[in-house]
This record gives sequence, structure tokens and C-alpha cells, in this order.
Amino acid sequence: MKLSAFGEKFARDSGIVELMDDLGSALIENPDMIMMGGGNPGRLPEAEAVFQQRLEAVMGDPQKRHRLFGRYQSPKGDHEFRSEMAAFLKKQFGWNLTASNVAISNGSQSAFFILLNMFAGEMPDGGRQSIHLPLTPEYLGYADSGLSEDFFTATRPEIELLDHKLFKYHVDFSRLALDEQTGALCVSRPTNPTGNVLTNEEIAHLDEIARERDIPLILDGAYGPPFPNILFTEASPHWNENTILVLSLSKLGLPGVRTGIIVAREAIIHAFANANGIANLACGNIGPAIATGLFRSGEIQSLTRDCVTPFYHERAQNTVEGFRQALGGLPYRIHKPEGAFFLWMWFEGLPITSQELYQRLKKRGVLIVPGHHCFFGLDNDWPHRHECIRVSYVQDPDSVQRGIAIIAEEVRKAYSR
Ligand SMILES: Cc1ncc(COP(=O)(O)O)c(C=O)c1O
Repeated sequence: MKLSAFGEKFARDSGIVELMDDLGSALIENPDMIMMGGGNPGRLPEAEAVFQQRLEAVMGDPQKRHRLFGRYQSPKGDHEFRSEMAAFLKKQFGWNLTASNVAISNGSQSAFFILLNMFAGEMPDGGRQSIHLPLTPEYLGYADSGLSEDFFTATRPEIELLDHKLFKYHVDFSRLALDEQTGALCVSRPTNPTGNVLTNEEIAHLDEIARERDIPLILDGAYGPPFPNILFTEASPHWNENTILVLSLSKLGLPGVRTGIIVAREAIIHAFANANGIANLACGNIGPAIATGLFRSGEIQSLTRDCVTPFYHERAQNTVEGFRQALGGLPYRIHKPEGAFFLWMWFEGLPITSQELYQRLKKRGVLIVPGHHCFFGLDNDWPHRHECIRVSYVQDPDSVQRGIAIIAEEVRKAYSR
């Protein structure tokens, strides 16, 4: 049996699959494992109650129940949900949108697979295009999504050292490594893995560069704004005809329903839906069934404002404080937590790689994400890529504090080698 080039590329191990495997199997191997690795959202009882109520209302209505279980939707997704989403975004931000500007996907991950390959890879004229990441580290879930090799280019960030052992990455516009082959820019905001939030000025500048070159700016809003809005700093949502905004219900607390949302100009939505039809036929109906009413009533805003954002903000502050106490005297820095639900820890001059640290921590019963996976698209020569780890703080506070203590012990051991 011989695998195709596609088979070879997609059947091999990858960072994202290792991460998802960890999520699934680590608890079977060790039921006491402290899960500070994967991207699961935290458990918010208030949000769960809202979702349950919405789903029960659908289940109690035979017509709606049939629509939920017994029908395929078009490859663009449930029309009612797309209309409500467009109306919600138009009302909130004045964006000129209708349902034709919105498509649904089975999770935003699958939307990225299609979108990134729509703008990069082999071109009809035999040339090539690539996706540029204006700021790395970036979401490791993009890393292996190209149908061909050499799919990403990336620009090394500027590092601003801040007080209190914090730091922040900025887009280094003086070194932005774009060329004729750049087919799209892509950034997550807030950024996974760092919790960075690109400033409004950075986004405006990237938008200008993308429009000048007639390439799209793909903006990954998995952590909001406008929802789930896991954001601890001021940042305006951004969209225009040259932007492809990709949203998701996952981090609101619904990763199991697999609903991604693409907001773009009509021609891009049309192209996306054609490809989505081939790959997926149609999307799942449960996400739209639960969430349509949240957008129609505007309840999504109170849910994020009163429940989701404060939950993660408090967790971020407590986790930073926990690390400050545990890591005293060590040369650590934490990326300023501005959003999402990870701390990005930088151990300058660490005598072991972040991969080795990940393995040692796994043996000690703590799962984290080694940072080197997130520097794809960059040349290999930057030691910084082996000095960082991503730590999720969504677990219950006691587990997080135990995890912090073990991480600090292992880091201290590594430095004192
Ligand atoms: C930045 C970012 N984008 C996209 C995704 C994909 O999420 P989903 O497919 O659940 O919508 C994730 C998941 O962790 C993420 O962190």
C-alpha cells in the first residue's frame, strides 16, 4: 500500500495532533494529570445553563427538533443563524453585512484548512503563494494545514520588556518579510499561544498593507472580540471587505458542537462554501440551534461581559501571581496576558529545550505545550523558540496552583544543572 503525497503529509505526526492526543489520552494514562496543555475552555456553570436551556427549547419543539437532527443545511450553513449573525455584527459595529457575508464551518479549524489552502500553495499558472504570519509565535493548529510544503513565511517579532517580569511581542514592521508570493496575511487576535492582542494601530497597518497588495487579511477571532471576548485590554473588533474574520463558538464553552463562523465579502463566502460542500457536505446544526437566539436577543453580550470575560481575567491574574511567587529568583518572563486563556512563559537561556521541559513535566503529571511548535514559518536559528512554554489556566484553581509548583520545581532544576 502506497500513500499519496497528501497521505504522507497528513498521516504523519504533527504538533496539533500531539496536543489533541495529549488531551484525550493523558487522562487515561494518568487520571490525576494536571491539564495545562490543550485549548479546552473552562467550565462556566452560568454559560452551561444558558446553552442547556436553549437546547431544551429546541428539543421540545417537534419542528425545530426535526430541523436539528433530520436536515442537511446548505454548505454555507443555517440561513437563520447566518442572518442573525450578520444583523448582530452590523448593529454592534456598523459593518455592512448580510447573510451572504457569513458562512458556517464545522469548527473554525476546518475553515482555516480551506481558507489557507485557497490563498496559498500551487497557483493555476504554476507559481506558488504562501501565507504570511506577521507575528510569530502563532497558533500551532495552522502549522500543518498546507497541502504543500513551504506554506508559511513569518516575521520575527519585536520584544518589548515590561516591568514586573512581563514582556510583549509587537509586529516588527521594519522587518515584515513579505514578497511577491505572499497570498494572505494571517493573525490570531487575541493570539494563541501568547495571550497577546495586536493593537488597533497594528491591525490598521496590516490592513493597509494587505489592501495595497490586494491580498486578504485573515483575522482569527477564536477568543474574540466580539465573542467570546476573552480580552483584558482595549481592542476594537475589525472587519472590512478585505478582511476575512473567522469566529468560533468553541471558547464560549461549546467546543464539542464544532461551529466556526466566517465573515467575508460575498465572493469569498461563495468560494469557501463551494469548497466546504466538497469537504463536509454540510455543517452540524447543533451550534446554530443553541446560539441563534443568543445573537437575536443580544444575550451573547451580557453572557460574555458578565460571565466569560471576568472568569478568565481573574484566572489570568491569579496564575500570574502564582508564578511570580513560585519562580522568584529565576530569569523568567511572562507575556503580558491581554486575552485568550494561556500564559506564555519565557525562560531565557534555559539549559534544556522546551520540548525536554514538556517531557519532564509530563512525567511529573503536568501537561503544558512546548513553545517551539508555534514558531513555524521562521528560520530555524532563533534560540527564543526553545525557551518558551504555553500554560493554560482554565482548570480549577487548586490544580493550577499545584501545576505552577511543579513547573517551578522543574524549571529551577533545569537552571541549576
Ligand atoms: C487561535 C485558534 N484558532 C482556531 C482554533 C480552532 O478552534 P475550533 O475549531 O474549535 O473553532 C483554535 C483552537 O484552539 C485556536 O486557538
